[in-house]
Amino acid sequence: MNGLKTRIMGARAGAGLVAFFLIFTICVDCAGPAGSAPSSRPERIILNPTQNPTTSMAVTWRTTDAVENPQAQIAVATAAPDFRDKAVSAAAKTETVKIDGANPVYYHSVVFESLKPSTLYAYRVGSPAGWSEWNHFRTAAANDEPFSFVYLGDPQNEIESMCSRVFRAAQMKAPDAAFWLFVGDIVNNGENDDEWREFYDAIGWIPRSIPMILLPGNHEYRKTMGVTEGLTYLWRPQFTFPENGPAGLEELKEASYYIDYQGALFVTLNGNERLEEQAKWLKKVLRDNPRKWTIVSIHQPFYSTAGNRDNPYHKMLFTDIFDKHGVDLVLQGHDHTYGRTHKVFKDKKRKDKGTVYVVTVTGPKQYKPSELYKDIMAKTGTQTQLFQVVRINGDKLTYESYNVTGELFDSFELTKTN
Ligand SMILES: [Fe+2]
Ligand SMILES: [Fe+2]
Repeated sequence: MNGLKTRIMGARAGAGLVAFFLIFTICVDCAGPAGSAPSSRPERIILNPTQNPTTSMAVTWRTTDAVENPQAQIAVATAAPDFRDKAVSAAAKTETVKIDGANPVYYHSVVFESLKPSTLYAYRVGSPAGWSEWNHFRTAAANDEPFSFVYLGDPQNEIESMCSRVFRAAQMKAPDAAFWLFVGDIVNNGENDDEWREFYDAIGWIPRSIPMILLPGNHEYRKTMGVTEGLTYLWRPQFTFPENGPAGLEELKEASYYIDYQGALFVTLNGNERLEEQAKWLKKVLRDNPRKWTIVSIHQPFYSTAGNRDNPYHKMLFTDIFDKHGVDLVLQGHDHTYGRTHKVFKDKKRKDKGTVYVVTVTGPKQYKPSELYKDIMAKTGTQTQLFQVVRINGDKLTYESYNVTGELFDSFELTKTN
């Protein structure tokens, strides 16, 4: 009897211990500024290309505690570990952001300048109170050497659980990608700091070595009672993009911009607001454009691929500009399906000239395909998590879309004849 009682008490004591550890673990897991002690350790480190990635590179990170003397250190990478002796420091700019209006975090950024083209650099970020690891990135070449990049549609939902596998597959398929390009709806609620935490957890070390081009989707916009207001307060502090968009429009800064990369021009548009001003700006950018390839990215598709969706106002404002200036490729998201057009000119399929428009999706949310533009579509699909690898080599652009299990899903080539 006594033995039984002892065993029961022992079991209770064990259960109590388990409960204690569970509570303890749950509390330790309460990552983020609201649930854990502030830390001076750098987190959410992300590289972003500048307008001219041959000689400069931007890096942004944050600490949840205020730190003295935040900075980044950089040196040309060598196999010998003494590259660190030659590292130089650049002081960071710091912006304090209150998460949900209450918990302060500290976003730090540095733009490395005067770098050498085609050079592998090692850098770390932090402060005397805590440093990141040394990471590598490579600057762009000064001439039009071949390169590749990864293009990704909306992650948005179950980012950690279901998008990690896409990010990992993309990294393994294209380990030499010069950068990754996301076309918005990176998270579902752009105001939710924990969804951004999920994004960084899902993508791991990749943005510490491969620069990320991102643009905002409608889900990066603040909504009150269902009414879309402005770009989330978390956008500008956590990224450092070129501020070469439409002049004088504060709301488009770091959301509408362009980047030059080895003979290709990458223009990102913010499809959520100020479309007329961006159309005017785009005409100017494309008028004086000596690059061989021009690639435009925007969240909302011009030729919708899902449900009963359509964006006629976007189409009315922009597609004539693409026709006139010979834009090669338009990369889009938003429709949670796959759709790739033939070459399109004046809304019609053409063999000789025109722009290829693509919609793709990363995450598990998938919509029903639309028939609206079926006459111009070369490939459509849904219920497939995808990533794309685009290679530019002189007069040839090679596009490949892979599903997350590694099979080729779609591909095409564009060739410049003049
Ligand atoms: Fe969207
Ligand atoms: Fe979306």
